[in-house]
Amino acid sequence: MKTENSSSLMRNFLKYQLRSVEKMPTTVWPKATDGSVHVAKSIALAIRQRQQENKHIVLGLATGSSPIQVYRELVRMHKEEDLSFKNVITFNLDEYYPMPPNARQSYVRFMNEHLFDHIDIQKKNIHIPDGTLEMDDVESYCEEYERKIKYFGGIDIQLLGIGRTGHIGFNEPGSWETSVTRMVRLDALTRRDAAKDFDREEDIPYRAITMGIQTIMEARKIFLLGWGQHKAAILQKAVEEEITPNIPSTFLQKHKDVSVHLDYGAAELLTRFEAPWLIGICNWDEDLICKAVTWLSRKVQKPILKLTTEDYAENGLSDLTIEHASAYNINIRIFNRLQHTISGWPGGKPNADDTTRPERKTPSKKRVIIFSPHPDDDVISMGGTFQRLVEQGHEVHVAYQTSGNIAVHDHHARHFLEFCIELMDAEKGDYKELDTRVRQMLKQVITKDTNSVAAQETRLVKGLVRRGEARAGARLCGLEDEQIHFLDMPFYETGRTRKKPLGEKDIQIIVDLMEKIKPHQVYAAGDLADPHGTHATCLDAIFQAYDRVKSKDWAQDAWLWLYRGAWHEWPVHEIEMAVPISPVELLKKRDAIFMHQSQKDRPPFPGNDSREFWQRAEDRNKHLANQYRALGLAEYEAMEAFSRWKFDWQTGEKPAKAKKAAPEPNSKEKKAKAKA
Ligand code: F6R
Repeated sequence: MKTENSSSLMRNFLKYQLRSVEKMPTTVWPKATDGSVHVAKSIALAIRQRQQENKHIVLGLATGSSPIQVYRELVRMHKEEDLSFKNVITFNLDEYYPMPPNARQSYVRFMNEHLFDHIDIQKKNIHIPDGTLEMDDVESYCEEYERKIKYFGGIDIQLLGIGRTGHIGFNEPGSWETSVTRMVRLDALTRRDAAKDFDREEDIPYRAITMGIQTIMEARKIFLLGWGQHKAAILQKAVEEEITPNIPSTFLQKHKDVSVHLDYGAAELLTRFEAPWLIGICNWDEDLICKAVTWLSRKVQKPILKLTTEDYAENGLSDLTIEHASAYNINIRIFNRLQHTISGWPGGKPNADDTTRPERKTPSKKRVIIFSPHPDDDVISMGGTFQRLVEQGHEVHVAYQTSGNIAVHDHHARHFLEFCIELMDAEKGDYKELDTRVRQMLKQVITKDTNSVAAQETRLVKGLVRRGEARAGARLCGLEDEQIHFLDMPFYETGRTRKKPLGEKDIQIIVDLMEKIKPHQVYAAGDLADPHGTHATCLDAIFQAYDRVKSKDWAQDAWLWLYRGAWHEWPVHEIEMAVPISPVELLKKRDAIFMHQSQKDRPPFPGNDSREFWQRAEDRNKHLANQYRALGLAEYEAMEAFSRWKFDWQTGEKPAKAKKAAPEPNSKEKKAKAKA
């Protein structure tokens, strides 16, 4: 009895602690699908309850990538479990302005494709802001939209995504709490994020019609969804920071029935993961201790070996010093662990003791595949390591997973086509047929005739431009042509920024290459920032390929090393191999990146970072070296970092790292029990 009391006391205490940091109830799911299914089930339950009472239900709906899997699950329930939408009335949050309803980017079209076309909702019950209005009519239209919501009794359940500006709906920073449906201007970051749906930046609308904060807050129940690391920073603010109009989603903290649903990527920066010791809920293991010690070292700005028992105590980490007898013991342990991640021998050091090295010494000459999602990720993210692997005599293959063709400006394609024509002219040979074809392609590029089938040929040209650049970059790293592979995975070939889902052919292409090379080492881009992005899809293809070859003898020895793409570096505590780069190697790496001429200066999709790729790469590699130095390790010019993915071959489970469990009050509870 006593034990139960103390453990439930402890649980309540921890819940209270969590609530004091997280100002909205937040559930963290292993995968976006799990959270989406949960939310869809809650919606379905509410719909059915109202059906039994013979009443309608009003749903507030969102577009974008966040709710897609919720809609998928609702459609499945309609088809397989007789869920009817006859009593459902919907109001969508927003629509771009101006925007015709049949345009590819329109939210009307989005809703039809993802939900309405597949369920039995009555068309008259669907409401989506109208992007075709005359400017003068917008105000009265918005008033009418509000009136209609009220007429149907208000919104029962509101689905929300969150923008990286912190917007909900299109209520951008500065939106007032009392705002209602209205016309707004889109933030520059929101427009950049929208680029994936538009072919050209100039096509992205500057305005939208959106429900206001007040409209949203009046909903009876709210689900806020966030998936992927790229949402982590803004979600930490929305959930944990003070309410401010600068982050409109913080207003949700005042709502009586809001719940936040995140995957591990999106939850990554919440205090319960970032510094769980501050909340008092830790299941200490070696990785968490390393995270805590590197965090402490950064916080008090001291190298690890100088951290004192007081530093630990004053920063919520006295648990550690008590358990490990002294600060010195922990310091030395974590220092050694980090020291052992540093290796100038990414393929393993022959004839050396490898017990504390990141890679095995045998075989001394390894077969290596470097997978590069786009044609320049190899040199941007691991150009230094690439050179070392070749120089140290390993059989290195590089495999460019996608053509990267949409990221080439028209003027580059034009340049190469004109070159072909001039070469044919100069040669004066019999190139009549080819000449006609090339001139056709040139015309398409000049007239931007992007809707014709022939636009595929423009893409072909652009893909070839990138092939040439990739080949030049790989050659500079010392590779022979027969070790350069272009995989042209079909999922990428939509001609647009939004890609197809991964298909059978994509996976088979990876399997075939792995079967052919039988690698000892595989390098791949481990970005999980955007779960719908090209890097994440390319990684998924590799995981699925591993799953198919796992019974082969060679497969279990094919260690998978993940590098991070152009945007982020691994946090230090997750790094398992840090390869130092000398000043000379860094310059050579820069030259290899320079080979990607079409991506220099201003590529078509630069993201929200104005630096060129070589600058980002160098800043990142130097920053990592500085971090190691600040922790008290050796000082290098620059470093590239990798984390090893450990498959669980028995259970067939792939994501050893994604298994990061949400902290539960177990260890403390156990202690409390033991004491009782
Ligand atoms: C969409 C909407 C927006 C999105 C947000 C997140 O109707 O109102 O607030 O929810 O921009 O977009 P995704 O889900 O695409 O990341």
